[in-house]
Amino acid sequence: MSLATAVRIAPPAYAQVDEERHAVLRRQIHRLARRRKALILAHNYQLPEVQDVAHFVGDSLGLALEAQQDPRQTIVFCGVHFMAESAKILNQEKRVLLPSLAAGCSLSDSITAESLEEWKCRYPDHVVVTYINSSAEVKALSDICCTSANAVSVIRSLPDKKILFTPDRNLGRWVARQFPEKEIVIYDGCCPTHDVLRGADVASGRRGHPEAVVVAHPECREDVLELADEVCSTTGMVAAVERHPEAKTFIIATEWGLVHQLKKRFPDKEFIVADGCIGCRLHCPYMKMNDLDSIARSLQEDVFEIQVDPDIASRARLTLERMMAVPRDR
Ligand code: 13P
Repeated sequence: MSLATAVRIAPPAYAQVDEERHAVLRRQIHRLARRRKALILAHNYQLPEVQDVAHFVGDSLGLALEAQQDPRQTIVFCGVHFMAESAKILNQEKRVLLPSLAAGCSLSDSITAESLEEWKCRYPDHVVVTYINSSAEVKALSDICCTSANAVSVIRSLPDKKILFTPDRNLGRWVARQFPEKEIVIYDGCCPTHDVLRGADVASGRRGHPEAVVVAHPECREDVLELADEVCSTTGMVAAVERHPEAKTFIIATEWGLVHQLKKRFPDKEFIVADGCIGCRLHCPYMKMNDLDSIARSLQEDVFEIQVDPDIASRARLTLERMMAVPRDR
């Protein structure tokens, strides 16, 4: 057989084997989840096959609420570490499993409890608002949390004028612009997946699709957000597409995993993932660490169980509960 023939034959054979394997794993996962009475949660950035096997797919706020409201006592959290940790903080009696323990978050790692302590000493009169992308220790030192879905409402809910916003500088600046009457000091952390995108990248995408609606995540830089028609959380982006029934094409300025949800809900629309660095869609390697194999293993072997020190958990829980009493931005 010539090399050319071999190359032509190989891809369909691979694809078939993968699909068969996925189907077997999907059945195994559903069987195990039923037997274990486990809830499978997946963030909008997870691999498409992980989203498809989950009972609920959503943004950070939606996942935290679902983890609290669902009666199942075991949660397999297909997201990154701070998300599973938040679920554990809110549900100390439940078993929370993260299929891949390596699934971290660079933004969450950009602030430590020590650096926040030091910062608080410099601004003793400020209320600390911390993005949910943070560790339990950092949350425990904060006054209230927020997510991208409720950051504006959280700041509005505070009577205080002086605020420290941690750790995402892009989300912080976007929120601060909406409250010129407040003094908001912003920490210098960022999500490298979103921060790589520039306004020029979005503008060049738009030149190719002048009619496209630009939908951006608030973790993007200011020059990107200035070009956006809609700025919202990942689940908020689904609602944003609904608000533009006349539009056929959307430029999506966030991690590419979300497009799986968008295509499922709006099969007739075209979604273009904003391109951060010449031909690369925005990609978070940590969000792609959970796969069907690790979910099956998680259910079989009870790994990796998330534990949080009870004292830290009870202080962090207050900051999350205060946040959850505030409605979504829209
Ligand atoms: P959402 O809460 O909007 O889903 O965002 C989570 C996140 O980590 C974005 O990088």
